[in-house]
Amino acid sequence: MPARTGTDLATAAALLRNGELVAIPTETVYGLAANAFDEAAVLKIFQAKERPAFDPLIVHIGRKDAVHAIARELPPGAEALMDAFWPGPLTLVLPKQAAVPDIVTSGLDTVGVRMPAHPLTRELLGQIEFPLAAPSANPFGYVSPTTAQHVADQLGEHIPYILDGGPCTVGVESTIIGWDAGADDRSTAMGRPGRWCLYRAGGIPLEAIESVIGTVGSAVKPVIPVAPGMLDSHYAPRKPVFVGDVNALLPAHAGKRVAVISFSTAYAAHQNEVLSPKGDLAEAARRLFAVLRELDASDADVILAERFPDEGLGRAINDRLRRAAAGRG
Ligand code: TXA
Ligand code: MG
Repeated sequence: MPARTGTDLATAAALLRNGELVAIPTETVYGLAANAFDEAAVLKIFQAKERPAFDPLIVHIGRKDAVHAIARELPPGAEALMDAFWPGPLTLVLPKQAAVPDIVTSGLDTVGVRMPAHPLTRELLGQIEFPLAAPSANPFGYVSPTTAQHVADQLGEHIPYILDGGPCTVGVESTIIGWDAGADDRSTAMGRPGRWCLYRAGGIPLEAIESVIGTVGSAVKPVIPVAPGMLDSHYAPRKPVFVGDVNALLPAHAGKRVAVISFSTAYAAHQNEVLSPKGDLAEAARRLFAVLRELDASDADVILAERFPDEGLGRAINDRLRRAAAGRG
């Protein structure tokens, strides 16, 4: 039965209490949510997305103090980060409480936690008695959804209800950072050995995070991928995507219908998607995933994309385009 879409919080809460899935709006992308403490419900997320069991989920909470039921310890700086960026697009990877089911964390001893900012989902979290485990509401590996319609198009057959909160205002997923106690024995932050590491660039610029806790390291490539950014192919349309100097790439695709994604100026191509004519990286990020979907459904043969300025939200845009280019193309 196809999903119903609406804004009825009572319906969403009742389904979640019954161990069902509900797609929820967040400021970043839509999530596919289940009661984080209900293992059978969480299993349905992995089935609906065809997501491999090694890829852990983010737990979403409605109030800052709910973090203590999820994390057994807050590393130095965690509270300052929560105060600065929650509610908002920052996920903290923290040592997990034993009560958090292994299926949520893929058996890791850590758990990703964030407090989303979308008003409808905040209201929902205020009505239910448990946190929500939720990955992005797309089939594994595909572009994340930024509207309720995107969710319905791809996962509608697998979920009973989509809570419609309108288009996402940030448009790329949360920034993920984790405290890595063993990252570098010589590094210390706030008097303790260890440091914060970036697992995924996202909706909170790295510069803003560093203004609160100082330098953030890059994550050491682990044995299992700890964030989707570490999987080479992700966020990928079905069409081939190439990223780089568009003027240099165009001749190689002569004779094809070429679509170009650019920051603020158009090219001589079959189709042009200028993400922000006024040169605003936040606007470009907000539009990126919807444009990738549109071009995937268009008559274009190939998608070329510029490299964006590597600052602010440009880092997340470049990261997602790089993964899209490493995709099925
Ligand atoms: O903005 C977002 O983060 C969205 C919305 C729905 O909140 N969620 C999202 O979830 O992007 P997902 O599952 O598509 O990506 C979250 C990534 C996972 O792929 C996983 O690798 C990483 O977060 N993650 C979760 N728990 C982790 C942990 N304990 N250690 C390292 N990485 C973790
Ligand atoms: Mg995802």
